[in-house]
Amino acid sequence: MRIVMCILILFFSWSCHQREDKSSCEDSIGVYTFANYPIGTAINFEKLYTDSLYTEIGTKQFNSITAENIFKAEYLHPKETEFNWVQADSLVNFCTENNKRIHGHTLIWDEQLPTWIPEFKGDSADWQELMKNHIQTIVHHFKEKVKGWDVVNEAFNEDGSLKKTGWLIKIGDDYMEKAFNYTHAADTSALLFYNDYKLESNPVKRKSVITYLNKLRNKGVKIDGIGLQMHISTSKPTVSEIASAINEIVQNGYLVHLSELDISINPEGKEIELAKELFVKQAELLGAIVSAYNHVPNKYQYGITFFGICDKYTWIRSYLKRQDYPLLYDDNYLPKPAYCTLKEALKSK
Ligand code: XIL
Repeated sequence: MRIVMCILILFFSWSCHQREDKSSCEDSIGVYTFANYPIGTAINFEKLYTDSLYTEIGTKQFNSITAENIFKAEYLHPKETEFNWVQADSLVNFCTENNKRIHGHTLIWDEQLPTWIPEFKGDSADWQELMKNHIQTIVHHFKEKVKGWDVVNEAFNEDGSLKKTGWLIKIGDDYMEKAFNYTHAADTSALLFYNDYKLESNPVKRKSVITYLNKLRNKGVKIDGIGLQMHISTSKPTVSEIASAINEIVQNGYLVHLSELDISINPEGKEIELAKELFVKQAELLGAIVSAYNHVPNKYQYGITFFGICDKYTWIRSYLKRQDYPLLYDDNYLPKPAYCTLKEALKSK
């Protein structure tokens, strides 16, 4: 009898423990509820209407939404005199109904342009008018609905020089200043961001961006924050490099948005064995990043946005054509160690 009791006690304590383990990682309560800043995801619009689990998890877990693609020029401004609001409005309605913040990505970028823009013929003044109309029509349409805009995306080279983008060539070196001013004029309440990759790992590029934005600010241009895209991997950059990048931005008085976070476990696209350690390493790095971000004064925390929900839809597979597992949920929508660690790191703030 005593033996049976012991076995029963052991069984119950084991099953409780199992449940505790599981519940610490279950996605029944949104991970964002543990944070005192927004936790976002980039949303693939098509999946939102075709994959119910995707929509369920996206709605439950995150309170800030960035469109992965449909706010880009090729979608919103397909022809010179034509804007297409159908999908973007539908996403905005979804966000409003579900109480999600909307982050606008992106107004001025040299990629995902409709063909008419690179083909446009005109002098510098005509190009300036084109840019003004593009920005202001969009920003005005979403006025007071979109909380913050990535006004300019990816405008610097790795050596810190300005990229010779079509916008720069046609409008001139001051195109960014104009872009920020046009955006501000169209919605004075919107927060305005400069967004780029490798700012967290390349101090030369980062310093150059900050110096450039500081100069614009000194001229009275409104720039509120900097988006660190954070397409990183478990092998680089280091946590201390990331923490320095975050601190430098804060010290310069900019909001910090970790804007497109994903952590590759296979940056070289090799044939890899999916060993548990890889996912543990990914989780540990994410935990450390979140802890570093928790130290940012709240007024500079615009939030952390993941670049997707589940591994199966990552842009790394579809666009970069590399087998990888960079997000919080696996291919079957099971939360990964990174998800659990995120929750823990947010709780322990
Ligand atoms: C990517 C999207 O994920 C892809 O679906 C699209 O085909 C190309 O663009 N930096 C950015 C994002 O600022 O807009 C990019 O998104 C990824 C890199």
